[in-house]
Amino acid sequence: MDVESLEKSIEQDITHAKDFDDLEQARIRYLGRKGHVTALLKEIKTASAKDRPRIGAMANRLKELAEGLHASRLAELYSTQSLSKFYTPPVDPTLPAHDVTTGHRHIISQTFNEMKRIFHGMGYSLAEGPDVELEYYNFQALNFPDNHPSRDLQDTFYVTDDILLRTHTSPVQVRFMENNKPPLKIIAAGRVYRNETIDPSHAAEFHQIEGLYVDRDVSMADLKQDVEIMIRQLFGSKTKVRFRPHFFPFTEPSAEADMSCFACSGKGCPACGKSGWIEILGAGMVHPNVFRAIGYDPEQYSGFAFGIGVDRIAMLKYGIDDLRHFLNNDLRFSYQF
Ligand code: DAH
Repeated sequence: MDVESLEKSIEQDITHAKDFDDLEQARIRYLGRKGHVTALLKEIKTASAKDRPRIGAMANRLKELAEGLHASRLAELYSTQSLSKFYTPPVDPTLPAHDVTTGHRHIISQTFNEMKRIFHGMGYSLAEGPDVELEYYNFQALNFPDNHPSRDLQDTFYVTDDILLRTHTSPVQVRFMENNKPPLKIIAAGRVYRNETIDPSHAAEFHQIEGLYVDRDVSMADLKQDVEIMIRQLFGSKTKVRFRPHFFPFTEPSAEADMSCFACSGKGCPACGKSGWIEILGAGMVHPNVFRAIGYDPEQYSGFAFGIGVDRIAMLKYGIDDLRHFLNNDLRFSYQF
């Protein structure tokens, strides 16, 4: 092969090598032990003294040309070929899967949602009221006497003399009745605030669901029926419910309801303090003074109301022993539910 065509074929073969294998073949063809350029380089030794400088110069020039072109084609191939050409990670099917953690609702929200769904199915619609409430709605319109202890600064977070953080969801009853005529059947769900010394069963913020049903001829039997249906949906159809007389300023008569202990079915165990019963809500027939405060005629209408502590329901349902877990934001707790 003459020098000129050798030079051309070096350029052609190396510059246009289509992949690494092709390029390596070309390298071997020219620069390998038996390659064309190597052969020329060997000729230097045997050449006559006269020819040696010419052959030497030519052979070295071709060697440098081939090496240079090879280096740049190699760099080009590295930058364009996908990396998987060089390294495919081995698949080990015995490795544990990557942990995919997604967020989810807080256990209190989950409990709220479950209870809202149950009430919705019973014909209750959802009403709302503000967390920062007027003293009037929180106490006065609900027939709290002026000197009632829960108006005390010990229990209530006051913003001003007239404005406070609601201590219960009952003010939503008044707000809703002010703007609506009977018949009405609502729940109000949300956060309430009390100036409590915090311990495993007391928090300064907790959650309630309020219920209110007003129509003609609503009776305590209707109240008992709805509470029973609700509790049985939450805790199982065998759960028993009992009412005990109690006092609330805004209901008359008033009662507290207990359910039979879900752990021992009423026999008595540590979960229910050996009594077989667990207190779950306050309730009663709406006091005539509450109807008068919003302009309903207590002779025409009657109604029942109830208030449930949602935190307590969640604690019972999920076996949580300390109210403070709900607000601590410890993910080791949150991710369990
Ligand atoms: N508001 C009361 C509380 O927070 C609970 C309550 C009791 C609500 C009786 C009611 C009711 O609607 O009728 O302690």
